[in-house]
Amino acid sequence: MTRRHRFRHGDWESAALRLDEIICAHSGEDAFEEALKLLVAKLAHERDAARAAFLARQRDDGAVCEINRLLRVAGERWSGILEPGATTRLSSPELVRCASVLNRVGLLADDLVGLDAIFEFMVAKVAKGQKGQYFTPRHVIAEVVAMVRPTAGERVVDPACGSGGFLRHALLQAPQCSVWGFDQDPRALRVARVMLAASGQATARLMRVDSLRRPEPRLRAGAAPVLEDLMRAQEPRFRGFDVVLTNPPFAGDVGSEYTDAYELARGHRVERDVLFLERCVELLKPQGRLAIVLPHNKVGAQGWAHLRAWLLEQVAVVAVLGLGRNTFRPHTSQKACVVIGCKRPKPTRHHRDEEILFFISERDGKDQRGRLAFAPDGEAVDHDLAQATPLVRRRFELLRGGS
Ligand SMILES: C[S@@+](CC[C@H](N)C(=O)[O-])C[C@H]1O[C@@H](n2cnc3c(N)ncnc32)[C@H](O)[C@@H]1O
Repeated sequence: MTRRHRFRHGDWESAALRLDEIICAHSGEDAFEEALKLLVAKLAHERDAARAAFLARQRDDGAVCEINRLLRVAGERWSGILEPGATTRLSSPELVRCASVLNRVGLLADDLVGLDAIFEFMVAKVAKGQKGQYFTPRHVIAEVVAMVRPTAGERVVDPACGSGGFLRHALLQAPQCSVWGFDQDPRALRVARVMLAASGQATARLMRVDSLRRPEPRLRAGAAPVLEDLMRAQEPRFRGFDVVLTNPPFAGDVGSEYTDAYELARGHRVERDVLFLERCVELLKPQGRLAIVLPHNKVGAQGWAHLRAWLLEQVAVVAVLGLGRNTFRPHTSQKACVVIGCKRPKPTRHHRDEEILFFISERDGKDQRGRLAFAPDGEAVDHDLAQATPLVRRRFELLRGGS
């Protein structure tokens, strides 16, 4: 459950903005790279000396030396985040100014809410809109994962994992499940690695791939590996995932290379979330469980009736959760929903009597400016999705029992 923290969401954004201003003023440096190093160094500092202030009272080159020492510690502790031998390019005065922003709150505190918010700002600056990199609010993720309930030993994947929110919560709920994250953006993967390392969940395996590329019937020499190839290199007997949890990108052009490969693209308008929906179903084992965030039009608009017909043939849809308009604010007010279901052993058109839970959220846990909203007398984020959780779980149990 996301709890009230000393620093509010908007404050984190202003902290991220301030860091960005300080770093960007140092002309010529890659702000993302320098901010990542700074945050990783701060995490290493908090792990070892949580009570001491970060870079306090450093003179001359003291801050540079201390950051570089922390980067070495972090490099030894967490793999795949920093380049070997990474050092800061910022000066000591710049580092001390950044530290005064970061010293206002612990990155490891409050369920990593602040770290998450800073990363979302950083990734947003580079890629938002172009690639649709809106992170899913953590209270939505926590509740959806509680509905789908990954269990020990199950293979769980997010094929568009971004900062790894679904993976982190899957491991929180079932530390013994086997968690896999894929993303085509190397920066998103590094952010996910930091988030997972910060929460002590380095067991998740993260890889870079274009998840929409499907296995080809005949191997072409030199073709880049697809997701299944990467999985079989790790687990030769891989036959699919037990659980897919994802919020795929909605925005962005779809290249013609995909349109022939997807059934839903033939003869219809194509959007990236549509291809991801088909791909997620393909990645599941029969009777595997799916939770996917989709734009609202996919469940309601006339123009997408063919998609719904296809989905109902492939998946026993258990629930559709209508998310409020503030859910993805301040980045977008696009309405979205979460479709939850179970892949059928074989596609069928005989599904007319199946019940689907339609839940419309009226308290989305954010205000109109996109700041987290807290219950008046409590510490938790004020949302109503938990009301649907026992109902969705019950539907899954009934499906498993075959009644
Ligand atoms: C909307 S974000 C969601 C992130 C994450 N699921 C979350 O909720 O925090 C979508 C992610 O999909 C990634 N992505 C977009 N196209 C992709 C592709 N073809 N293959 C793999 N990842 C992709 C983007 O880089 C981005 O990180």
